[in-house]
Amino acid sequence: MCGIIGAVAVRDVVPILIEGLKRLEYRGYDSSGLATINGEQLERKRAVGKISKLEAKLKKKSLSSKIGIAHTRWATHGKANQANAHPHFSKDNIAVVHNGIIENHSKLRETLEKAGYEFSSDTDTEVIAHQIHYHLKQGKNLYAAFLASLAMIEGTYAIAMISPLMPDSLFAARRGSPLIVGIGVGEYFLASDAAALISVTQRVIYLEDGDIVELQRDNMTITDMAGNPVERIEHISKLQADAVERGEYRHYMQKEIFEQPQAIIDTLEGRIHNGRVLEAAFGPNAGELFSKIEAVQIIACGTSYHAGMVARYWIESLAKLPCTVEIASEFRYRKPLPNPKALVVTLSQSGETADTLAALAETKRLGFGPSLAICNVPESSLVRASDLVLMTHAGPEIGVASTKAFTTQLLSLLMLTVVLARRRGMTAETENQIVTAIQSLPRQIEKMLTLNDSIEKLAEQFADKHNALFLGRGIHYPIAMEGALKLKEISYIHAEAYPAGELKHGPLALVDDKMPVIAVAPNDDLQEKLKSNLQEVNARGGQLFVFANHSSMKQGFDYINVIETGEVDEIISPIIYTIPLQLLSYHVALIKGTDVDQPRNLAKAVTVE
Ligand code: AGP
Repeated sequence: MCGIIGAVAVRDVVPILIEGLKRLEYRGYDSSGLATINGEQLERKRAVGKISKLEAKLKKKSLSSKIGIAHTRWATHGKANQANAHPHFSKDNIAVVHNGIIENHSKLRETLEKAGYEFSSDTDTEVIAHQIHYHLKQGKNLYAAFLASLAMIEGTYAIAMISPLMPDSLFAARRGSPLIVGIGVGEYFLASDAAALISVTQRVIYLEDGDIVELQRDNMTITDMAGNPVERIEHISKLQADAVERGEYRHYMQKEIFEQPQAIIDTLEGRIHNGRVLEAAFGPNAGELFSKIEAVQIIACGTSYHAGMVARYWIESLAKLPCTVEIASEFRYRKPLPNPKALVVTLSQSGETADTLAALAETKRLGFGPSLAICNVPESSLVRASDLVLMTHAGPEIGVASTKAFTTQLLSLLMLTVVLARRRGMTAETENQIVTAIQSLPRQIEKMLTLNDSIEKLAEQFADKHNALFLGRGIHYPIAMEGALKLKEISYIHAEAYPAGELKHGPLALVDDKMPVIAVAPNDDLQEKLKSNLQEVNARGGQLFVFANHSSMKQGFDYINVIETGEVDEIISPIIYTIPLQLLSYHVALIKGTDVDQPRNLAKAVTVE
């Protein structure tokens, strides 16, 4: 998704902007650009493709300035080409970069065209630049013109603006898209993501919706939309530079898969004591809020949604609470019936997913019960909008394909289940057994990671495939869904997941000797039933790749590869079985030569609807 970086300093900011853009690359983008002020002139460089293309342009004709804004663009309105890349200018005296979507841009564009403005891009962003210029022409000063333009915009934005009319000031505003001020010594920075600021400062201010900021080298002013000053608290970002380096690994995704034992240890830290999950881990007033709930409503997108689907099995069977799980983009428009006794659980790696944020807002508007965010980014919009928070301490996840965020979400949801179940009569003995299983997770995940080499070999059989079916039953059906999502996301192989019992109701028609069928088949109550479903595939010549505890699964099948996982404790088995599926998709993508960390068309944090 789009990224913003800006700086006003006593030194040349161009290297800072480029470094920031590189640190934003993981969000996904298709073009980039930067603008600076040189004397009384705006200067700009833009390029389609990787940041290295922009750097190459800067090598030919370098820019240097003490103020600048830069952007990585992920196309929403208009193709990925240079004309649509940000920054956008108006009459060479306004430069803007923007994340978000301006919903009334067509109307604004029409009016501006009638007023004589010529557009050089298809973007919604360009209207902002011209709108500001229009207000300047009406006699307003730059700040007032900026405010007046924001007032006309419907939609979401994080905007940064510079102008030679006030060459020492960088203006910015936030509504619905994250924006952070970085505080240096005699310099200020601006970014849509703390990761972009890592090399310049750890001192940050998270702007709130409706905030307008003016940054000068030695001064910062934050106001609301009416121009009244507002106070925002300074935080110290905990992001470490080395946490976002790839180190010895070939890809971030690979690093993040192998970091999972540590991510689990970090997520567990301080949350378990004497064999019990601490309720206070969910927030100081968690006990009071949990005591009133009679249902759970989980809302999330993508991989996070799959984590929610797993949790439903745990919550209903152990905590005996009715649990509904819904995709955020559907929930927000469905007009659901509010349940004031339902705990709303939102799941998100980034905490900035627009659909999840909007769905949470909708639950508040409708009158659902208290909200709990399970999230990986502290101070994210989701965290700030929720009554209770449980942070997954997975560390920064850079690969677009979510891995360690998913397994730490599952762990967090299992801890939530235990806390809710205890309130509804779960015995200390059962809790102890679950906690023992939870504590064995790092060791068991390490064991799964040793399957890496055999899975790498297995992946060769997928290189020429165009389709794949993933099967699971019960709590492992969402794990099959997650496996399919990972494969399609990074290897571009079309993959679908089905509950295995559903095969005969349609998808079996797809099975022939060219169709790989991947099954998640742990040793649980449903294993025998799953085996019969796999026989249906076998009888149609399908190629079976089965992840199972034991190779005895092979018996009675013609074409079958069994990847032995060994015995796995049933309660944590969805977490454990995720690992080999992540490895499979990673190795298939490697063979196919795709961009593993930044797959085409995708973004890390989906901050637009
Ligand atoms: C997963 O691999 C995807 N990148 C995607 O489905 C992601 O999980 C989804 O966009 C939700 O993101 P969030 O967890 O940051 O809210």
